[in-house]
Amino acid sequence: MPFSTIIEPFRIHSVEPLKVTTVDERRAALAAAGGNLFGLHADDVLIDLLTDSGTGAMSRDQWAGIQRGDESYAGSPSWFRFLEAVQELFPLPHVIPTHQGRAAEKILFSVIGGPGKVIPNNTHFDTTRANVEFTGAAAVDLVIPEGLDPAAIHPFKGNMDLERLDGLLAERAADVPAVFVTITNNSGGGQPVSLENLRGVRTLCDEHGVPLFLDACRFAENAWFIRDREPGQGDRAVRDIVRDMAALADGMTMSAKKDGLANIGGWLAVRDDALAEQCRNLLILTEGFPTYGGLAGRDLEAIAQGLREVVEHDYLRYRIRSTAYLGEGLLAAGIPVVQPIGGHAVYLDARALLPHVPPLQYPGQSLAIALYETGGIRACEIGTVMFGRRPDGSEHPAALDLVRLAIPRRTYTQSHIDYVIEVCAEVAARAGDLGGYRIVEEPATLRHFTARFAPL
Ligand code: F0G
Repeated sequence: MPFSTIIEPFRIHSVEPLKVTTVDERRAALAAAGGNLFGLHADDVLIDLLTDSGTGAMSRDQWAGIQRGDESYAGSPSWFRFLEAVQELFPLPHVIPTHQGRAAEKILFSVIGGPGKVIPNNTHFDTTRANVEFTGAAAVDLVIPEGLDPAAIHPFKGNMDLERLDGLLAERAADVPAVFVTITNNSGGGQPVSLENLRGVRTLCDEHGVPLFLDACRFAENAWFIRDREPGQGDRAVRDIVRDMAALADGMTMSAKKDGLANIGGWLAVRDDALAEQCRNLLILTEGFPTYGGLAGRDLEAIAQGLREVVEHDYLRYRIRSTAYLGEGLLAAGIPVVQPIGGHAVYLDARALLPHVPPLQYPGQSLAIALYETGGIRACEIGTVMFGRRPDGSEHPAALDLVRLAIPRRTYTQSHIDYVIEVCAEVAARAGDLGGYRIVEEPATLRHFTARFAPL
């Protein structure tokens, strides 16, 4: 193409109105929510960048699939279309549909976890860590050191630290029921993992006789980065790169709310017959019969179609470029963000922007609150609020204090993103005036969803 502007490769087919509120209205809404952005009424949010999970726009063909959905309890044709679409990309023999990713995690870790077990991962996402720890197992994060340095430039900052993984497996392989790799590494900035690194993990797993699982939520974005950045991959179809990643794995957990391009859904897939049987038994207790799991037939259709669309190069080029556009705009405004820019989100480095607010006073929460009050933008703290509370009850600073601007797929236009850049620049200009917070109320686990905050 002779032109450098990368356009949205779709036209808008139906629209949802946005409600514009005032700063005072937003302050009142936030006060009522105890300073927790998860507690807001979404109508009071102008640009919702809380998550890219289940918030995307479906395509015409996905909506057509919704109409076609067959709601037979067992053996629905929609199930077979879903199964075929999953196995075309991830040829694992057992596919177990769940209502979302964490249900797959809950089932898997109920079977393979337990006290004394250790699950390594490049970085566990919050629900993944919580589901591991809930069984009494330990969740260990082994991302490469560059992955913990927001300013470090590295093409695959999501890579696993192979040396540390080798060390852990040499000592404790018998306690490790699976090694996980999260693609892309959400908690570490949406950073990709290279094929070379995945192969290295596979080799170590083989040496120590441990299975390898993918947390594959953003597999297509990860594959696009491989195509773009890994030597020798530039001419390949993303579909084939995905199959290469899948071929290295013994199993996967998946949230179809991300690269399934659907609003709900997920699955667990495994190679091992005995493990599949144990997981299916739990599935029937908590989710449903194995040919629908936690989903309606129509949801299975939407996911099947989404999986075909998500590996299209025009879509991924736009997706990755438009996220980078936001990141570059913020950098140009002098705002510290995790670099290189990730696939599904841009992460503001709150610790760097608010150096006067110590981690245990939650600089990320302070920044997220300011973005909402100033411009109606809802972002998500990924830092000490989310990860600071240990299972033993003690509190420690998280590795990073980030604020994530997650981009729903195919939902916002470039002018929305220009507005976001403008609001962020306004907030950054008076970052020195933003103060810290304390938590006045918190639940026993996953406190970031319901904790209440007060300014210090
Ligand atoms: N693994 C990763 C890497 C995730 O990002 C998520 C969800 C899950 C597992 C769980 O999937 O939501 O379908 O149960 N991440 C969302 C987010 C919630 O905002 O990043 P789920």
